Amino acid sequence: MDTSKFLITGANGQLGLALRAKYPDAKTTDQTQMDITDSNAVSTFDWSNVTTILNAAAYTDVDGAETPEGRVAAWKINAQGPSNLAKIARERDILLIHLSSDYVFDGTQSPHLESEAPSPLSSYGASKAAGDMIVGVIPKYCLIRASWIIGEGKNFVRTMLELGKQGVAPTVVHDQIGRLTFTSELVNAIDHLLKTNAAYGTYNVSNEGDPCSWADITRTIFKEANYDLFVTNATTAEYFAGKNGVAVRPLNSVLDLSKIKSTGFNSRNWHDDLKQYIKKELGK
Ligand SMILES: NC(=O)c1ccc[n+]([C@@H]2O[C@H](COP(=O)([O-])OP(=O)(O)OC[C@H]3O[C@@H](n4cnc5c(N)ncnc54)[C@H](OP(=O)(O)O)[C@@H]3O)[C@@H](O)[C@H]2O)c1
Repeated sequence: MDTSKFLITGANGQLGLALRAKYPDAKTTDQTQMDITDSNAVSTFDWSNVTTILNAAAYTDVDGAETPEGRVAAWKINAQGPSNLAKIARERDILLIHLSSDYVFDGTQSPHLESEAPSPLSSYGASKAAGDMIVGVIPKYCLIRASWIIGEGKNFVRTMLELGKQGVAPTVVHDQIGRLTFTSELVNAIDHLLKTNAAYGTYNVSNEGDPCSWADITRTIFKEANYDLFVTNATTAEYFAGKNGVAVRPLNSVLDLSKIKSTGFNSRNWHDDLKQYIKKELGK
């Protein structure tokens, strides 16, 4: 596996940064170097030495995608962008690794299998589902479906640590259930699929461990960080009551991990990665 022939697009996001750490000799582009929504920029890029595209570029502002401008941006970046990459991947016989989300589902099934039909509730979810469909028609692709990603960037764990530091006792939703996916583990899973020449197709990836709610995760974060603060449960409906422009989120985000396990990859428990992550954050 010649990782110098990998191209990481959207290389400054949470996943992009973790991929760069995993593959330091890979080529990288950010939005200024290659805007994936610009078909001309994609088609004129020098692809001669690229065997694998790791597409970490995305529009991830879930509530922002509910605004008129955000909806357009989400569809451009999450559907048009992958379409441009899929076209070039097919023309050049390149493997395209693309990321999908639990938000392509309405959360009524549990756990989510790779074969579940999309049923997005939000504009973001719909734009991601469109990207999934486009990528899924090329010969060489891996669609990695993750949930609740935590890495280097703006994320839930960092927000809660910040609130804890300020002594804020938060109210957190307790009816959305899922598992965290640390980018460290996500890139291990991608690396495993690449190294083992796993069959092309869709793979669910998250950390292992008991599924739980954002409120329960917050309690774990506060316990690990030694913040003695009470976390109040709220239903999603209560939490968002009276707030406009909030995307509807799936209540169940748990991904079934049997398929990736059957390839020999067993992901770490999210508790262990959360502990490690908090230790690092507090040590900064
Ligand atoms: N975050 C989650 O909880 C979550 C959960 C499940 C699945 N996912 C999926 O996992 C993937 C990685 O997510 P993430 O959390 O790493 O996202 P992220 O931190 O928001 O990073 C996305 C990156 O894409 C870049 N980008 C945006 N528009 C672009 C364009 N037109 N051309 C090139 N780059 C562009 C952004 O650059 P700028 O910062 O300059 O805009 C940013 O660096 C995405 O496909 C996401 O949908 C995320």
